[in-house]
Amino acid sequence: MTPRVAILISGGGSNMVTLVKAMQSGEIDATPLVVISNVATAGGLRKARELEVQPISIDHRPYKGDRAAFEADLHDYLLKFEVDIICLAGFMRILTPEFTNKWDGKVLNIHPSLLPKYKGLNTHQRAIDAGDTHGGCSVHLVTGALDDGPVLGQTAVPILPNDTADDLAARVLIEEHKLYPKVLAKFVKSHG
Ligand code: GRF
Repeated sequence: MTPRVAILISGGGSNMVTLVKAMQSGEIDATPLVVISNVATAGGLRKARELEVQPISIDHRPYKGDRAAFEADLHDYLLKFEVDIICLAGFMRILTPEFTNKWDGKVLNIHPSLLPKYKGLNTHQRAIDAGDTHGGCSVHLVTGALDDGPVLGQTAVPILPNDTADDLAARVLIEEHKLYPKVLAKFVKSHG
C-alpha cells in the first residue's frame, strides 16, 4: 500500500499544491489524504479542496497558547486519517518534542535557507545582510529542535546584486517547488 500523506500549512500552500500534484500524477508513489491548516483563512485550504484533497482547519488561537492541547487534537486527526508521513509546507507553528517524538522519522519540512544556516524566520534578509553569495532551500526531517533535523536535500540559489528579500524569496520558492517533490519521492521509495 502506498504511504498516506498529510500536508500541514498556514498560508498560500504553493508547496502543498506541488506535492499534491506530484502524488496525483504518480511522480510520488504516495496518497495525499488531508491538508491541515492552523489558520482557518489560509488560501491553501481552498486549493486543497480544488485538488479534491480533504481540507481541515484546526485554528490554534482558541487553544490560547496551550500547545499540548493543540497538538493532541492535531495528533487525533492524523491518527483518524491513518497518516504515514507528515509534510510541513509553510506550517508556521513550532511543534514540541512531545509531538515530534510520536512521529519520529515521519515528518518532513521545507525551510527557505541552506540549513544549518538561518534557522527560524527572516532567512532571506539574514542571508543578504551576511553578504552570502547564495541563499536556498532545504528539506529536512523534523526533530524536537527547530529546523534542526537531518537534511534530506538542498538547492542553492545565487544572491544577485541589489536583491531584496522578496526578490530572493521568489527565486528560492521556484526551487522549493522542485526540491520538495523530488525529496519526498526519494523518501517514500527508501521507506517503502
Ligand atoms: C515557503 O517559502 C516555505 O519554505 C516557508 O514559507 C513559504 C510557504 O509558502 N516556510 P507556501 O505556503 O508553500 O506557498
